[in-house]
Amino acid sequence: MSRFIDIHNHVLPIDDGAKDYRDSLRMLQDAVDSHISTVFVSPHIIPNGKYCPTTEFILKEVIKLKEMAKDIPIEIKFGSEFQVNADSMPFIQNKQYLCYEGTDYLLVEFSRTSLYHGLIEDALDELSGNGVKIIIAHPERYFESVEEAVSKCKRWIKHGYYIQINRSSLIKGNNPLQRKIAYNLLLENCVHLIASDAHRVSGPRRLVLIDVFNKVKLFFGKSFAEIIFHTNTTNLVLNKELSSTKSIKSGYKFVQRLVVRLFC
Ligand SMILES: [Fe+2]
Repeated sequence: MSRFIDIHNHVLPIDDGAKDYRDSLRMLQDAVDSHISTVFVSPHIIPNGKYCPTTEFILKEVIKLKEMAKDIPIEIKFGSEFQVNADSMPFIQNKQYLCYEGTDYLLVEFSRTSLYHGLIEDALDELSGNGVKIIIAHPERYFESVEEAVSKCKRWIKHGYYIQINRSSLIKGNNPLQRKIAYNLLLENCVHLIASDAHRVSGPRRLVLIDVFNKVKLFFGKSFAEIIFHTNTTNLVLNKELSSTKSIKSGYKFVQRLVVRLFC
């Protein structure tokens, strides 16, 4: 079986994720046990917010984690989850964000309330102007309806941005609207990456991917799942462009929509 690469998690114990390095090591072991070979750690950078580490501090902490995890067979690379908020523009202009190690890709999130101000588009334009390739984190959290989410994500994709949804959004028991949006984004070929967004050692925010890989494979097909879980994560590591999942024939799409509605 091919190994997985997780591009969004809070394993580094410097934000609201792992409480300490002991938690970090348990999360990494959990990842190895479920066939994850590489993690890009993505601690929050919230400009002037509760979690606002410098890039230097993150890099120092990553070195520390690598040293502590040297007996766990997993590759640890750096990254960050940069939040666009009212204070983010000077951070962007001074390049106070951390792209994924060896790449120009940056994971970008928004606070829900700021979504409807022109602020986000301005920030994304500014980041693109810096040569950043943008991955939008968990859009399923930001919208009040499926239609709104799908149409906005389609516009972002046209703009050249990529979309990442969370493992937990595909699991029953979590927020039903987020789950509905996440599955509809998959149906509309608007998802490039699925990541754990792991914060905890156990529960829905664990550092595991294989369960949702199997779920996506079952409902959308093997080649569809391969693009999201393997082709695109490999291309990210290589700093290459990411692929879109393939359109499904309209007749089959109707059946698939029904299946998703009934079983997901
Ligand atoms: Fe996150």
